[in-house]
Amino acid sequence: MTITIVGHGYVGLVTACVFADFGNKVWVVGHTKEKLARLKKGDPIIFEPGLKELLQKNIKARRIFFTDDYENSVSESEIVFIAVGTPTKETGEADLNAVIDVARKIGKNLKSKLTVVSCKSTVPVGTNKKIETVIKRHKPKSSEFAVASVPEFLREGTGIFDTLNPDRVIIGSDSKKAIELLIKLHQPINGKRIITNLASAEMIKYASNSMLATKISFANLISFYCEKTGANVVEVLDAVGLDNRIGRSFLYPGVGYGGSCLPKDVRAFLNTGKKLSINSKFLEAAEEINKTAMDSFVDVVANNSPGKKIGILGLSFKPNTDDVREAPSLYIISELLKQGFEIKTYDPVAMENVKKFFENKISFKKNPYEAVAKTDAVLVITEWNEFKQIDLAKIKKIMNQPFVFDGRNIYEPELMKKLGFKYFSIGRP
Ligand code: UDX
Repeated sequence: MTITIVGHGYVGLVTACVFADFGNKVWVVGHTKEKLARLKKGDPIIFEPGLKELLQKNIKARRIFFTDDYENSVSESEIVFIAVGTPTKETGEADLNAVIDVARKIGKNLKSKLTVVSCKSTVPVGTNKKIETVIKRHKPKSSEFAVASVPEFLREGTGIFDTLNPDRVIIGSDSKKAIELLIKLHQPINGKRIITNLASAEMIKYASNSMLATKISFANLISFYCEKTGANVVEVLDAVGLDNRIGRSFLYPGVGYGGSCLPKDVRAFLNTGKKLSINSKFLEAAEEINKTAMDSFVDVVANNSPGKKIGILGLSFKPNTDDVREAPSLYIISELLKQGFEIKTYDPVAMENVKKFFENKISFKKNPYEAVAKTDAVLVITEWNEFKQIDLAKIKKIMNQPFVFDGRNIYEPELMKKLGFKYFSIGRP
């Protein structure tokens, strides 16, 4: 098949590379010339494990092409995916400007055969109908199209694996032909197929991300209880998670959830709820607890650190990504700066992306040891593998004072005590 994907972020580029790797011809449409030039040379711009190799392989095989031209790409494609961003507006609403603008451009460039316009961007219920209206308004009279919603569930850091092995492939459309074509395109991909209408497909994405956010906030809430009672949150949630109805995954407390999806999607879903006069306090609470998780970590550091010099390990919103959108690290650093802390940091891949937020207010180091040398306390904010078995004895030796604040519970309290650290973690005595 020939397909077009508009957008080359974590979703667009990963999806494009995977479909190209199956042997399809894939056009990737972008708007920024410099980025397109880098992509054409095999530089994925973003960091996602395995993506560079997959991109370069498919450029070489002449299966993936980058352009800012909708005419060539859209006109020869059977399926066109919209995979552009839907950031939050100040009101909490999802900003649909990019999606609608792209729909207009796709519409103008449709040719006579049936083209399926399929939205992967996370958009509030009803948006695909808007996309349909916009395309209808702009398309050449003779052309035919159908819209579909195919929400994406890939997690950053495991994007390629998730695209190949999703738990489910959701295809929402009112058009039989669109559903048939999308089933054909997804044929090599694992996972259960759910065929549904547009509104349900849109809703499935928000309901899933809201549920995940709620599970994390529930875990954080239980950690607050544990901290005040001497219970151990890890043992509690290990046991709770053994109940199959609940499950263990996404029940890890920490410094809060971040990233480009959960915070934004919970806000947008709340906004939809408000418009529909639905009492969504349940989700508001998930949001509030998430902020409390970050605030209470800041308080524990501020109240217990023996000095103002600190080293921070991990900046990305989770391991294996360079993405720092809504990363808890950004909030925690800005709060600690307000309180006069002097901060050195280290992250394997996310430092470049953090520099623009703080300029020279914090320093960026080449390795974790440089970030913690001569500090009064170490803060672990992202659980990168390389911190898990770091030389703790060496760290203790090079620090001014042996204080560790572990925001992701990656070390064992007993071991830390034995090594002579004053150790603080989440919800564990
Ligand atoms: C998420 C969804 O998982 C994915 O299905 C959807 O399509 C996009 O949004 P992503 O944003 O890549 O994916 O990250 P995810 O792995 O969900 O983690 C989100 C945040 O939650 C991270 O900050 C992570 O550290 C935090 N988290 C996750 C916890 O604090 N505890 C947990 O138990 C799990």
